Amino acid sequence: MPDIYDKILSLGKRRGIIYPSYEIYGGKTGFFDYGPLGSLLKHNLEEAWRSLYIIKEGCMEVVTPVVTPFEILKASGHVDKFLDVIFTCQKCSSSFKAPDILNKEVTLPEAGEAIKKGITCPECDGQLTAEEVHLMFETSIGPTKKQPAFLRPETAQGIFIDFYNLYRFFRQKLPFGIVQVGKGFRNEVSPRQGIIRLREFSMAEAEIFFDPSHKDHPRFSQVKHEQLHILPAGKKDIKTSLQEAIKNKIIGNQILAYYLAITQKFIISAGIDAQKIRFRQHASTEMAHYANECWDAEIFTQRFGWIECVGIADRSAHDLQSHMNATDADLTAFHRFDHPHKEKKKLVKVKMDELGPRYKDKAGFIKKQLESMSPPKSGDITVVLDGKSLVIDPSCYDIVEEEVSLEGQHFIPHVIEPSHGIDRILYCILEHNYQEVEKEGEMYTLLSLPYKIAPIPVGVFPLINKDGLPQVAYDIEQSLRQQGFLAFYDDSGSIGRRYARMDEIGTPFCITIDHQTLTDDTVTIRDRDTTQQERIKKANVKAYLDKKFFSSEKRF
Ligand code: GLY
Repeated sequence: MPDIYDKILSLGKRRGIIYPSYEIYGGKTGFFDYGPLGSLLKHNLEEAWRSLYIIKEGCMEVVTPVVTPFEILKASGHVDKFLDVIFTCQKCSSSFKAPDILNKEVTLPEAGEAIKKGITCPECDGQLTAEEVHLMFETSIGPTKKQPAFLRPETAQGIFIDFYNLYRFFRQKLPFGIVQVGKGFRNEVSPRQGIIRLREFSMAEAEIFFDPSHKDHPRFSQVKHEQLHILPAGKKDIKTSLQEAIKNKIIGNQILAYYLAITQKFIISAGIDAQKIRFRQHASTEMAHYANECWDAEIFTQRFGWIECVGIADRSAHDLQSHMNATDADLTAFHRFDHPHKEKKKLVKVKMDELGPRYKDKAGFIKKQLESMSPPKSGDITVVLDGKSLVIDPSCYDIVEEEVSLEGQHFIPHVIEPSHGIDRILYCILEHNYQEVEKEGEMYTLLSLPYKIAPIPVGVFPLINKDGLPQVAYDIEQSLRQQGFLAFYDDSGSIGRRYARMDEIGTPFCITIDHQTLTDDTVTIRDRDTTQQERIKKANVKAYLDKKFFSSEKRF
């Protein structure tokens, strides 16, 4: 018996929504194509996401390269820490992610222990070995002098390394949010979960930069009563309001909590069943290297169970600090005091006549670092040069105490990141809205998609193909297209089959032109969900659809 995943894939292929890539060459696991209707659906979902984050939340979007030089992902920690523990079979050479076999995240020594205790290859019972592999796709820049690079594993790094420009764009004021929607790449080990585990996937990420001394969110009061199904690390799942979750210190801060609420609202409005959402906190052993608190919005699917669709992480100052350590860039923000603070302060006074000859062309850069630091109480003074720590000879400076007037202070902003896996959300939307209905003795499929993400909003049909009805229908279809509605003209097969074909791809409304249209300029409009038909004036079709699409609860 095909399960719902098989049925969705079969619908996806039949109707040009989704299908495995490279099929005529035998296919490659971990890659999927969006067909003509799937592209529209994906576009609509991403536009809805943009409309939430850019229009309602006030973030701005950037577009940064997919190809990422090695040193950026070395600095961010991905090269050394973005690793998966895998098992490989010595007999059949199959590889598996350790958590897929052991049903929990494990370290390399724990995977070794599991082998000693007797786990073997699930395919052929052969002997396994364990190792850590990094998941990034390697590439190089330049056809001859090949500089090592990767396809980005997340869109976020492109945002962090632009912080200096973005902070200026926002007139040096925090908080602000930057989003990016685009491809991410992970060279997964033998992905066996179809569209759920892709090697090339679409992400919609937001990086919210804020001053860590202000962890309140200005709109938290609007969401504090939202109820969430949450699963704190190592505890039982509960239903709680965000207000309670903050009070009981289950969620670390209001900004993180606010984005959990926004995420829940967004995925429900995109068509996810509210009963099939939970927020699971990562255990400290499972957390990505950049996070100090992370919650996954998980969505329930019939074949795969709960799957992570959105990760909402508190990345603290990790990324900006890492890129500051690796470069000369100043990725701090400045907090201006209401009144200057007078205080006694130990300062490093540079002796340029010593520093200059000793460090030559690097002396200016070292001077800048020395003069902006608070000297340690004892011991050597070090600066970062070319990504390495360098002890500065004490003959090059004096430490003096002076009364200074401080206008403000520099700090490294913290980041909260909601990161959405668009392909997974899209699959879950298809699954949660997939219905098999019986009408007039026939079984057929219906996608009850929210209006705004349905690939084709409206179908237009002549009841029969004569008496001038096709021309009237064609004119309405063209007129709707010119006015911004992607209308689809169909005159083939019975009217019942035509309605069924549109239901199958989730089209909310179908307009039919019949003989009465010729006498009184009215048409019928059929509602996908109720199958009820209304007769309205042809001239009012656009206003009718505007009202349905822009003021209905089924929009975002
Ligand atoms: N940026 C979040 C992630 O890579 O999952």
